Parts: sequence; C-alpha cells; structure tokens
Amino acid sequence: MTTIKIFDTTLRDGEQSPGCSMNLQEKIEVARQLEKLGVDVIEAGFAISSPGDFQSVKTVAETVKNARVASLARALKKDIDSAYEAVKGAVSPRIHTFLATSPIHMEYKLRMKPEDVLAQAVEMVKYAKSYCADVEFSAEDASRSEPEFLFRVFEAVIAAGATCINVPDTVGYSMPEEFGALIKSIKENVRGIEKVDLSVHCHNDLGLAVANSLAAIRAGATQAECTINGIGERAGNAALEEIVMAVATRQDFFGYTTNINTKQIYNSSRLISAITGVPVQPNKAVVGKNAFAHEAGIHQHGVLANKKTYEIMTPESIGLPENAIVLGKHSGKHAFCERLKELGYVLDEQRVNESFERFKELADRKKEVSDMDLRALVEMERFEIPMDYEFDTFVINSGNKMTATAVVKLMHDGKEIEEAATGDGPVDAAFNAIERCIGESFTLEDYIVRSVTGGKDAQGEVVVKLSKNGKNVKGRGLSTDIVEASVKAYIDAINRYFYQTKVEG
Ligand code: KIV
Ligand code: ZN
Repeated sequence: MTTIKIFDTTLRDGEQSPGCSMNLQEKIEVARQLEKLGVDVIEAGFAISSPGDFQSVKTVAETVKNARVASLARALKKDIDSAYEAVKGAVSPRIHTFLATSPIHMEYKLRMKPEDVLAQAVEMVKYAKSYCADVEFSAEDASRSEPEFLFRVFEAVIAAGATCINVPDTVGYSMPEEFGALIKSIKENVRGIEKVDLSVHCHNDLGLAVANSLAAIRAGATQAECTINGIGERAGNAALEEIVMAVATRQDFFGYTTNINTKQIYNSSRLISAITGVPVQPNKAVVGKNAFAHEAGIHQHGVLANKKTYEIMTPESIGLPENAIVLGKHSGKHAFCERLKELGYVLDEQRVNESFERFKELADRKKEVSDMDLRALVEMERFEIPMDYEFDTFVINSGNKMTATAVVKLMHDGKEIEEAATGDGPVDAAFNAIERCIGESFTLEDYIVRSVTGGKDAQGEVVVKLSKNGKNVKGRGLSTDIVEASVKAYIDAINRYFYQTKVEG
C-alpha cells in the first residue's frame, strides 16, 4: 500500500503564528515528540530569520535521528547558505526553498517578470543541490498561479535537481475539487514528476485546509504538509491529526497509509497546547475534549449497545486509553508509573519522582485523580527551569463590597520576601503583591484559566503570558484553588523571564 509522507511544519509555519512562539528547550521537546509520532519530515524553522531560529534549527537537526529535518529558505543564496549551515548536522537534511509564482505575488511582492522567477527558481535549486541531496521547492501561492506557468517552473526545478515539489494553497483560496484537479493536472503535465515527491501545503482561511489536502492525496499527492492542532499563519494550516485519522479511518476510500503512530496523536496535541498556551477548542475534530463524548441520550443508548453506532474511530487509536482507572491517595508508585506508561509518557527517574510527589500532594486534596489530572501533572514537570523565586504562601482578602488585598510570601536566595498589595480582584491583587516582592513590573498579555476535569474539586490550570523589554514568556500553574494556580503561573512566568534573560542576554 502507498505510504503518504507527513511533513510537519509546527515548528516553522505553526510557530510563526501569533501567540505560538516557543523557546529552544520547547522546540526540542516538540521535535522529540514529532519523532515519536513518526512524521517523515520535521520543518524545524526558517534559519535565516533570526539567530534564535538558526540555533533552534541546528539543535533540532542534531537531536532528531528518525526523521528528515528541513529548514525553510527564500530562493536567495544567503538564505540557502544559512539553511544548509543549520541542517547539515542532521542524519537526513533537507533544504526547502520557495519562490512565489502567482501573477499578484510576482508583480506586487517580488516585482519580477515570470521568466526571471523561473530562472531564479532553477538557479537556486541548483545552488541548494550543490550542498544537499534533498531539496524541496515550493511555488508560493501555487493555487492562484497560471497552471501552464506552474508546470514550466516545476518541470525546470525537477530537471535542476529538486527531490520534492510543493503546491501551497498559501492563502487558503482553493476549493477541494479545484485543488484536486490542479494536482491531477500537475501529474499529467510535468515531465519528471514521477521521480519526485508531490507535496501539498494548505492554509485554512476558508476552513478547507484538511479537505483540500485530502482531495490532493486522492488526486496523487504523495506528501502532506501540516501542523499539530492546525496552528499556523492566520486561520492556520491543515491539522496533522485530521489528515492522518481521515486516511486511517477511511482506508477503504483512500487505499493509503502513513507512518504515523496514531497512539501518539493525543499527547502531541496536548504538548503543543501546553507549550503555546493555546487551548484546543472542545469540538475540534479528533483531539477536542468532546471528540469522543456522547451527550445526547439517544447517542448514549446507541454507544452502549454498540460503539460503532456513533464512533467511527476509537479513543484508544489516538492514545486516549479507555479504561480510565482513577488513582487516589492509597495508590502506590508502581500503579502511578504503570498508568503513566499507558498514557504514553516515558519519563526518566527524576521526573517520575517529582511527578509522584506532586501526585501525592494532589491526592491529599482531591479524592480521585483522573488521567486528565495525571497528564496535567506530568506536563507541568516537563518545563521545569531553575527557580530564582519560589512560591511559599499567600493570603487573600476579597469580596464584592471591598478592595481585594493579597499578601504573598516568596523565597529568594534562601530569604523570605513578603509584600501586600491591593487590586481589582483577588488575582490582580496577588499579581501586584508578587511584583512588589520582586521589585519589577511586567505587562500581562494574556491570562487563561481552564479546569482540568469536571467536579467541584477539579484542578484549575492557569497560563499567563507576560512581556517586558521585548521578551515574551509564558508561565503555568496548577492547583485545586485557581488563585493559587494563578499565583504559581505568574511566578513561573517571572522565573522564565529571568532565566531567558540570563541565557539569551
Ligand atoms: O504557505 C506557504 O506558501 C508557505 C510556503 C513557504 C511553503 O508556508
Ligand atoms: Zn504556509
């Protein structure tokens, strides 16, 4: 059976979208998870865009062993030089170069004549090829390009040595039938197309990125470019989990497979959401909280009689084990570790011990500890950094007819610092007290609170995004008390700010 290649661009197209930026440590964590997921290509970034991007592409390239690692490059020598420098340490490096081919991009953005675009594409593919055997060429805005011109460009870059040609629907303009027909026409009209991978890269401006990618696969595309949770420029990219599960669930229709270990889909989605602080909408296909929930009585009745009445794929197939064993304060380390393994987490001993300690603290506050609680605990451990300021205690006084007051105590260099402050509510007062303890102020860019599970004793998870001096940081906090979770998240973000300042200057 033909295998469709999955090219993941979460670390490039995904990361460049607003609110989704990641630091080096987070990018490596994502790359490792993508490797576990089994993607064929990881686009690690756009090396020339900043020294930070260059460093992260290089580190990812040197870390990943079981996937190709690509860097994006405009069709310019300096970009290609930088991309190659960054990926050359990879087991399987790829240079991904692009140039726009649509009339509107050529006239207004590039200010180039079509013949010059064609010549530059060929010259730069040859240049990239002088460094690297694996070269992908993307015709930016391909779906709004003149098909005849597109065929000529593709034919010429294949002759120049491209190993993969990519057809982006850059602005999410295409309709599935139309996009499928474009792919078919490329297969019929481009000499040499059978020797290379034919890739598609669809944006979601009209909500059709996955539909367009699937239409392209049906029409003969051999690679799909996508991101976890569909993050990406504007309305995002095609969601990896949706493409993969459509191909797997409807193998009868497509007759194809992928190399993806679908059981790692759920953990991958959680990781991206935890790192970016961007929640997954509850009704999101495949990975949303409600994707496998059956609310209507008639549906519940059907599912109890036979799951297939309303379930076209199983929760287990994406890594959501069904027998949600609930742990409690009497559960031992063995049961805890076994459950983590079943949930797909492979942790070293130190992380297991730290997570187990937090689990015990939680089990003292909460009667039943569910899988969702465990996931939240483990994800919290994942992003530990050295803490300059440690949270100790807080006291809040607040009500509807009084000014909220908070007293917060932190530990710094073995000393206690305690400050009081007022605010517009308990959380604002607590944040003000923290800033007084530290003696610096920050801009709160975003504050997100959600409950990890249902129930009155549910844990609250808080993400805060802060900025100062051009740096953006995120912090997370977890507690059955949402003010405590907020305090922890704020202190976590501040510690990350100081850590980043130390590391990056
Ligand atoms: O959307 C797009 O056209 C891109 C290309 C650089 C592949 O991201
Ligand atoms: Zn894109």
